[in-house]
Amino acid sequence: MTKQLKFGFVLHGVGAGWGDWRYETAVTDASVNFNFYKEQAQLAEQGRFEFLFVADSVSINARSSPHYLNRFEPLTILSGLAAVTSKIGLVGTVTVSYSEPYTVARQFASLDHISGGRAGWNVVTSWLDGSARNYSREEHYAHDVRYRLAAEHLCVVQGLWDSWEDDALVRDKASGQFFEPGKLHSLDHKGEFFQVAGPLNIQRSKQGQPVIFQAGASESGKTFAAQSADAIFFHADTLEEAQAYYRDVKTRVAAAGRQPEQVSLLPGIRPIVGRTAEEAESKYQAAASLVPIENALAALARPFNDHDFSSYPLDAPFPELGDLGRNSQQAASDHIKQVAQEKGWTLRQVALWHASPKRTFVGTAEQVADEIQRWFDNEGADGFNFFEALPNTSLKDFVELVVPILQARGIYRKDYEADTFRGNLGLPVPVNRYTKHRQVAELNAPKTEAAEAELVEA
Ligand SMILES: Cc1cc2nc3c(=O)[nH]c(=O)nc-3n(C[C@H](O)[C@H](O)[C@H](O)COP(=O)(O)O)c2cc1C
Repeated sequence: MTKQLKFGFVLHGVGAGWGDWRYETAVTDASVNFNFYKEQAQLAEQGRFEFLFVADSVSINARSSPHYLNRFEPLTILSGLAAVTSKIGLVGTVTVSYSEPYTVARQFASLDHISGGRAGWNVVTSWLDGSARNYSREEHYAHDVRYRLAAEHLCVVQGLWDSWEDDALVRDKASGQFFEPGKLHSLDHKGEFFQVAGPLNIQRSKQGQPVIFQAGASESGKTFAAQSADAIFFHADTLEEAQAYYRDVKTRVAAAGRQPEQVSLLPGIRPIVGRTAEEAESKYQAAASLVPIENALAALARPFNDHDFSSYPLDAPFPELGDLGRNSQQAASDHIKQVAQEKGWTLRQVALWHASPKRTFVGTAEQVADEIQRWFDNEGADGFNFFEALPNTSLKDFVELVVPILQARGIYRKDYEADTFRGNLGLPVPVNRYTKHRQVAELNAPKTEAAEAELVEA
């Protein structure tokens, strides 16, 4: 079968931007409205999307976007959606900087069972330093410390997920044996950040372990993602930028001893589809009108730890920010500073460039399908993470108009191949590490005399 595109849909309630909630089709309480999420989830599943994604952070202030100000906790909403969908993957963000691995392992393992093997964890380190003050810490961890912590946290969680071997729970009423003690394992982890004994109090699901997502963009972030993730989110404005990230990260995946084709690289896109080119243009203008300069400044603040840009002169050169942003979204804030300097832009120009909708995936359904295929065929993407440009509108347009074209071209599934998330991603079920050790030990064990004799006879 030819390689197939993968799509994720970002459940973002009232929308990703600051003005989206005012659009004519937006549902103003969407971010805390279960029925709204249910309808979007079912529509994405009807469009054969690979997964739903719920982003998250653990700190807000009055300048945060409307969706972030008032929304569901990811694992709770995903558990609800598990009951009203049957095939689509369910990916949620949980931060390693403000969570305990034992709790995270339990929660995702539970979602994995509730959904019949469809859970995925987006492992993030958190970029907002206000998070620290919600978790009894005075200071946010430094960027490099966060990635050391992330590697250890993930290693503990994955270790805990293997606590029970797959055939450990025999549940034999006749004999009274509930489980085989030799197949339940402690972890006894003692590391720089965590001490966790285990075992975990829940068995593995039918996909073995939840799927791991990451979105590293800095050097340490990309290396961590390449070493550990099954799928990676990234941001690129052009095919050339996407190709550069794709080459870089696939090379890191191979260097980590992993199969590059088993790690999906998924740039975010915001397609705007019209039945005609004029309709697409008018929708594009509607999306652009949702980003007046004050909203653009709020969006620009994000990679700079929600920095307040409102006191700077708008039409003076972009301000000198020193190290601001380096302990937040490092690669994104570095990139913005670099573009501002190279182009000699003012604060207004930088903010509008950063926050306004891009024209890359705007057009008729054929044009949008062409652009998607161009990125897919030219090593810019293995699929895409879909954000709605116009809330409560863009997904419907895409599923109705673009999906059938991609299906007709043979690059997008007509139906799900499997029941589990790993199955649909084409990933094998990871063998439980203790089962694997035993199998290897058995293979290497000295042969008994009878077995030796059998071998000689053969
Ligand atoms: C599509 C996408 C989704 C992301 N979702 C989240 C999220 O839900 N929560 C979060 O704290 N960070 C999220 N991030 C940010 C990344 O986790 C990461 O902090 C960022 O890409 C900066 O990379 P760096 O940590 O290597 O500097 C996301 C990034 C992308 C591109």
